[in-house]
Amino acid sequence: MKILAIESSCDDTSIAVLSENKVLSNVISSQAIHRNYGGIVPELASRAHINNISSLTEASLVTAGVEMKDINAIAVTSEPGLMGSLIVGSSFAKGLSLKYDLPLIPVNHIEGHIYSGCLEDESLDFPFISLVVSGGHTSLFLVESYSEYITIGMTKDDAAGEAFDKIAKLMGLGYPGGPIIDKLAKEGNPTEYDFPRSMINSDDFDFSFSGLKTAVRYFIQKNFEFPLGELDKKNIAASVQAAIVDVLIHKTYTASKKYKVKNIVIGGGVSANSLLRKKFHELELKGFKIVIPKMEYCIDNAAMIGFLADKKIQNTNNDYKDLTFKVSSRPMRSN
Ligand code: KG4
Ligand code: ZN
Repeated sequence: MKILAIESSCDDTSIAVLSENKVLSNVISSQAIHRNYGGIVPELASRAHINNISSLTEASLVTAGVEMKDINAIAVTSEPGLMGSLIVGSSFAKGLSLKYDLPLIPVNHIEGHIYSGCLEDESLDFPFISLVVSGGHTSLFLVESYSEYITIGMTKDDAAGEAFDKIAKLMGLGYPGGPIIDKLAKEGNPTEYDFPRSMINSDDFDFSFSGLKTAVRYFIQKNFEFPLGELDKKNIAASVQAAIVDVLIHKTYTASKKYKVKNIVIGGGVSANSLLRKKFHELELKGFKIVIPKMEYCIDNAAMIGFLADKKIQNTNNDYKDLTFKVSSRPMRSN
């Protein structure tokens, strides 16, 4: 079974080819244009997807060493995401499906992230706790099988990546802010400033990061002049990063204890954060198995979409010939 997978839910266009669940190619084009605006501009994202999607598909097929006639099914991200971006990917996928008479499997983007740990590590056993943490999402899942999982917590306001990005912006740094804060933090003191760890001791697994952003804004306004000095930037970055990472680690750890699960998977762009990775790997000393997929499977990528589509074909009787499905921007709800 060879699958061509298409991901265009936000600002990355990605096309992958998988054969028997092995990734033959996973081409990702990130849209640099948004850096000029300090955040993602949806209309520009849709236009860039339109410009990229055909040539990336060609490049992905060439990299995989296959042609369209070798492909058995197509997978596409159908939800959630930016409406225009999703429409570009799904319309393109529907066109290919009609032209080549291939089944088309719509895949939920967050589910793609949830199961990216299985793509990385075939020996990963169910159940596991999955933390999906990116610019758009911060959620915890208890995952029992390829078809069963429950959302055990999610952010009530900003996602963790969004907090990194917004705080970087108010510090006068660039976009995306997460990698910049990560880099500055390496030379800063994480205990210099005690920023709030919102909801860290709440008796649920939900998150809240907008209060941190507001606290940092007022703290800077009260104590510093712009532009910030180099050492101040480093210390604020390290202290902000410590606050965000503390909450993510603590909630994931307590969820794993509550549900008596020893396997933990982290996905989404924020899993690139060096402190987060270090702290999660320290849990291995307590007997946890920690899976952090390689970066190209953590950020938005089509390989995870194709991987889950393959599982869906194997585990259901659906022939996936129905092309009437709609895309949806609606985020996942807690259950
Ligand atoms: O998964 P992703 O590529 O796109 C979506 O948001 O869906 O994640 C991007 C997010 C941005 O908010 C970015 O600032 C954050 O991931 N990020 C990081 C790091 N690298 C990327 N956050 C903290 N530390 C990093 N090293
Ligand atoms: Zn994502």
